[in-house]
Amino acid sequence: MILVGGIGTRLRPLTYETPKQMLPILGVPMIECVMDTLCQHGITDAVLALGYLPDQFIEAYPSGVIGGVNVTYAVEPEPLDTSGAIRFAAKFAEIDETFLVLNGDVITDLDITKLIKFHRDHGAQATIALHAVDDPSRFGVVPTTPDGRVIAFVEKPPRDEAPTNLINAGTYVFEPSVLDRIAPTGRVSVERDTFPELAAEGTLYAMPDDSYWLDTGTPQAFLQANVDFLLGRFRNHLVKDVVDGCWIHPSSTVDPSATLINSVVDRNCVVKANVVLEDSVLLPGVVIQNDAQVRFSIIGHHAVIGAFSNLGATCVVGASVHVEAHSQLSGDVRLGGV
Ligand code: GTP
Repeated sequence: MILVGGIGTRLRPLTYETPKQMLPILGVPMIECVMDTLCQHGITDAVLALGYLPDQFIEAYPSGVIGGVNVTYAVEPEPLDTSGAIRFAAKFAEIDETFLVLNGDVITDLDITKLIKFHRDHGAQATIALHAVDDPSRFGVVPTTPDGRVIAFVEKPPRDEAPTNLINAGTYVFEPSVLDRIAPTGRVSVERDTFPELAAEGTLYAMPDDSYWLDTGTPQAFLQANVDFLLGRFRNHLVKDVVDGCWIHPSSTVDPSATLINSVVDRNCVVKANVVLEDSVLLPGVVIQNDAQVRFSIIGHHAVIGAFSNLGATCVVGASVHVEAHSQLSGDVRLGGV
């Protein structure tokens, strides 16, 4: 089961128009990258737990196959939060055996087979994949006993109070029996409700893993995902034609005088003379006028960046926004509304 129904507030304004998992990484919608990795691990069938802008997924993949995986679409009637979504989608798809749950905005090459074996060996009700990070304060932190039983589930602790640097990596194995303990209506969170309950009971386990892992939910992380694909830190066979650390869709025009470093130029973009693009992503249809410099920024569909503008870490320019010539923008800049 892939959770893709979140509203993606941290990636606004991009997510006003496009659900997070339909944002492309090197031209490939994120959901396709996630599904392709699952396919490589032998997964054949999945349920997509949809809530926010569901039609965009259904219209993009009308055959119901994404990245080689057969998909069932479960559309929530209202936002149910993560546990509520799991319950709804599992009932919808009539799941009655051990199943895997993934946050659809996580890119990872976690060994799923190993995670399922760990879950079964420990007789767990649910098992969480863990990932070590330098700063756990943005995440759900998961201390365990030496054999992997979860002692507590601490959501976003202050950095100096975190009991461990192992965080919830957003990939879980569930027994179907867990579903019956999730309230059938209203919002229920897996991190704040279900996991703490299971941890208190001693039936929640967790397995650390050191494979590639990235939660793409912030602008910085979304840029990081693109750069990691460009530089081959995460390998995906859907990603092709990276030249000198950049990916430029063949339908786009880049003036020979432009300088591009670790950047993505999606389809139908125009990059004019003397432009500098560094660690940035241009979504389809963007125009960068002459002599503009864009660093550590994401430029949304059909936006135009005026001549001689200077955009620095971290600008997120929404769809169809026109940035005036000679603009100077940096900091946590979000341009564009609904
Ligand atoms: P932010 O608003 O930026 O925090 O993003 P988000 O709404 O995606 O929330 P978050 O990143 O915490 O969600 C983790 C995963 O759960 C993502 O894959 C979301 O798409 C998914 N998710 C969150 N809430 C829901 C929900 O109500 N229904 C469904 N189906 N999925 C959800």
